[in-house]
Amino acid sequence: MIKYLGSKRTLVPALGAIATAVAADTAVDLFTGTTRVAQEFKRRGIEVTAVDLATYSEVLARCFIATDATTVDPVELSEALDDLSSTPGRRGYVTRTFCEESRYFQPANGERIDAIRDRIEERYRDSALYPVLLSTLLLAADRVDSTTGLQMAYLKKWSPRSHRPLELRAPELLPGPGTAIRGDAMALVNQLPEVDLVYLDPPYNQHRYFTNYHVWETLVRWDEPDHYGVACKRLDSKDEHTRSVFNGKRTMPGAFTELIGRVRGRFVVVSYNDESWVSADTITEALARTNECVELVAFDRPRYVGARIGIHNPEGAKVGTVGRLRNQEYLFLAGPAESVAHARAAIDSQR
Ligand SMILES: C[S@@+](CC[C@H](N)C(=O)[O-])C[C@H]1O[C@@H](n2cnc3c(N)ncnc32)[C@H](O)[C@@H]1O
Repeated sequence: MIKYLGSKRTLVPALGAIATAVAADTAVDLFTGTTRVAQEFKRRGIEVTAVDLATYSEVLARCFIATDATTVDPVELSEALDDLSSTPGRRGYVTRTFCEESRYFQPANGERIDAIRDRIEERYRDSALYPVLLSTLLLAADRVDSTTGLQMAYLKKWSPRSHRPLELRAPELLPGPGTAIRGDAMALVNQLPEVDLVYLDPPYNQHRYFTNYHVWETLVRWDEPDHYGVACKRLDSKDEHTRSVFNGKRTMPGAFTELIGRVRGRFVVVSYNDESWVSADTITEALARTNECVELVAFDRPRYVGARIGIHNPEGAKVGTVGRLRNQEYLFLAGPAESVAHARAAIDSQR
């Protein structure tokens, strides 16, 4: 899966165990990001609706959540991947913007990304494979990028992985139905189906996903946006409509407590970390208004890779000091007392 700030890779086993312990058949992952958590739910036979504001998240969700693996012809997929892999590279927007004006990819890989992305649009736009092929390209590009996992900057010295040739690998699709929706959680929450389990993992601070992952946003939209600055960020990242209420210090706490009051799930799990603008007490109170029982479980986790590598400017020089290298991740468990006890026992049995 792509490198992603706030991705819950290490919590996936615990979240999967919770879903099974509360006997969920249906779930909503309202801030799905990489779709990693939604995939774990789907792997356990749960019908998932995956929601996110980001265009690249929607494509990942259409591939990994909404596509039923049993409906995909492996021969057709393999032929499409062969076709794309053998497409000769061609200098286009990605090469110019992300390899020459900036250095996110080596030019040889940039030219292949340009050519493959164009071919997906020309040949597969109306195919059911479209989101699968786009996700395959996204994942392949992520494996050869030259960043610390954020696209606010790139490394001065090429990362070792950037020297490898771009390689398209068939993604591991899961059987069963699912739904992918792009949009604002605040606007969508009332329209979503009532489910057994709702998982909430919003951004808890100023880090904007639209700018942190602008290269993926552009690769999926394929709209050749005007850009600015050393990082070549999309010009529309300055527009109000690309902002999320969850990235505003003043707007986030109110929006999140309101959202908690509006979700329709028999059981609710909320991810939380101690760098958040909203206090654990505030979330507990909001959950307790609509749930019989609320518990908070702590997990000690290393921080995201950027913090561990250090804070660098685009020239590669260290420009800041790194704070602590571990932070505490929390899960709120909220629902009927018996279900909370089952979820708690499932987590404890994994430790
Ligand atoms: C902490 S990340 C989620 C990570 C995800 N659980 C994973 O493991 O990959 C938060 C996500 O919220 C999304 N987001 C931000 N504001 C949103 C909004 N108003 N509605 C829906 N999604 C939003 C971001 O695009 C980002 O993918």
